[in-house]
Amino acid sequence: MVKKSPTKFPYFEEESSADVVLARMGENIDPRVREVMTSVIKHLHAAVKEIRPTYEEWMTAIQFLTRTGHTCTEWRQEFILLSDTLGVSMLVDAINNDHGTEATENTVLGPFYVENPPHRENGFNICLDGKGQPMVVRGRVVDTLGAPIAGATVDAWQTNEDGYYDVQQKGIQPDMNLRGIFTTNEKGEFWFRSAKPRYYPIPGDGPMGELLAAMGRGVIRAAHIHFIVKAAGFETVITHVFPPDCPYLEIDAVFGVKESLIGAFRLVDNPEQAERLGFSAPFWALDWDFVLARDERKT
Ligand code: BEZ
Ligand code: FE
Repeated sequence: MVKKSPTKFPYFEEESSADVVLARMGENIDPRVREVMTSVIKHLHAAVKEIRPTYEEWMTAIQFLTRTGHTCTEWRQEFILLSDTLGVSMLVDAINNDHGTEATENTVLGPFYVENPPHRENGFNICLDGKGQPMVVRGRVVDTLGAPIAGATVDAWQTNEDGYYDVQQKGIQPDMNLRGIFTTNEKGEFWFRSAKPRYYPIPGDGPMGELLAAMGRGVIRAAHIHFIVKAAGFETVITHVFPPDCPYLEIDAVFGVKESLIGAFRLVDNPEQAERLGFSAPFWALDWDFVLARDERKT
């Protein structure tokens, strides 16, 4: 009988599983790939050892990810929804946006941003379907010392009164409903008209919705207006403003609410002011300034 010689070959065993897999990585690889995959493999193996899934449970997980991929279309990104609802999008944002300045805080972009929305004159009413409670938004874009920034762009988008973005209701809502880019004047000012945002469900009819239901969680996003604010030489801010009376602020499905982003929405019952705005009273008014930090990489 041939006796097997002792070998250093690392056979796969539960105890050493992550080390065995990590040992297969090549020598001349991108150091960041090594760092990222080392962490992912270590944590994945640790989670599987803690969970101790049955074969059926592991296949359920594989099928969940497969369905998540199949649910993605040009207009729907189920992996982003998953990242958002598991709090990972907000974590990545927290890691990357710790300016240590007084700049307006960031929050999630969300999957419904549309590239190249229309540029509008200040004062334009972006509520093209005329639904909802009328609202005027006025504000300034300033630097961290309070100096106005002229020529900054304020890109705004929101759902309509029925709780859908225009891209979710093609042929039902006018194209580019509740979207527009405004440019600040020499005093850093912008203003536009719209409708008061309301809370709405994120698409819960796919794998992400099933997972939230299984975890006993809801799919409602607190009411908000999205903004991307840009100016040359400053860090871009991707953010929301939330009305304080929304009942979902504390249970926002994607953890996107920050205290500093809750705005003072005022109900104005003044017929003359309403008439000047082309509204009927009462209407909502939001005064909101954006503060941008200088982009140190560009100065
Ligand atoms: C949104 O606010 O548009 C959004 C953000 C995260 C997930 C789904 C929607
Ligand atoms: Fe949104």
